[in-house]
Amino acid sequence: MAPFPSPTSKWHTETYPSISPTRPELSARGKTIVITGGGTGIGAETAHHFAEAGASRIILLGRREQPLLDTKASIDSKSSGVEVFVVPTDITKKDEVDEAFARFVGNGNIHVLVSNAAVIGPQDAVGDVDSDRFLDAIQQNLKGSLNVAQAFLHYASKDAVVIETSSSAAHVNFAPGFAAYSIAKLAVFRLWDSLAFANPELSVFHVQPGVVDTAMNREAGGVAAMGFADDGKWEDGFIGSGVTSTNFYTSFSAGKLQCLARQSRSSFLKG
Ligand SMILES: NC(=O)c1ccc[n+]([C@@H]2O[C@H](COP(=O)([O-])OP(=O)(O)OC[C@H]3O[C@@H](n4cnc5c(N)ncnc54)[C@H](OP(=O)(O)O)[C@@H]3O)[C@@H](O)[C@H]2O)c1
Repeated sequence: MAPFPSPTSKWHTETYPSISPTRPELSARGKTIVITGGGTGIGAETAHHFAEAGASRIILLGRREQPLLDTKASIDSKSSGVEVFVVPTDITKKDEVDEAFARFVGNGNIHVLVSNAAVIGPQDAVGDVDSDRFLDAIQQNLKGSLNVAQAFLHYASKDAVVIETSSSAAHVNFAPGFAAYSIAKLAVFRLWDSLAFANPELSVFHVQPGVVDTAMNREAGGVAAMGFADDGKWEDGFIGSGVTSTNFYTSFSAGKLQCLARQSRSSFLKG
């Protein structure tokens, strides 16, 4: 039974063959992929699956260089034929974002943007939270996504795909302390929808990854607080930057899903 309100009749907690990035119809061959927050957790795992799917270029953005380098090294050790670029970038700073895109996308086009970077912000209820910290967290999430959206539009291929790592917290109340995060996630969701509305040639997907054992999830109390974790089969023992293997047991399915969502209209995502 689904632990959350579910829009689909079937609820998967483990990965399954029809979303495998190695399936020919899910190939990302020749594609350029940009992933924000690509050094850790769901972003790093998504990068792995795009490499598995045969992407040509993967550009990883995040503030800290080391996690990005670790993700690159891990992909390089397993996948040939993919170029991975590491761009330490604070996406809340427009000049850094513009420079990163100009340097690493240049005259090329982006086929897939995974807008994944986020912060959870202060975890206090509306009645208690410091208003500056509350608004700052919402602003960081929204501004970062806006800067990335604007840069992306300059380089997007004609039929480019955006995959936003959203959250069920955008729509469902889990705990009073998720107020800043929930508001930010809903705002970012509508930002990408607004971009899709203005640019109908683009496809925008919002992926809600479930409960995934990552650094951000732990900051929010972790899997124990949720009383539930999405699971996945660990195929090859990859241990990523600064996290334990359990992070990837759970982010494995989410990463695959992000990769799958790239497919045109993804009409097969029917639960
Ligand atoms: N884990 C879950 O259960 C869960 C559930 C629903 C949705 N999500 C969503 O999944 C996405 C990824 O989170 P995660 O769970 O994988 O946690 P995570 O490992 O903490 O990932 C967050 C990433 O965002 C990057 N980031 C944050 N602020 C940034 C900034 N200003 N500029 C550039 N990069 C920035 C971080 O890298 P640096 O710190 O190096 O910048 C980090 O790589 C988020 O959008 C989150 O809301 C997660």
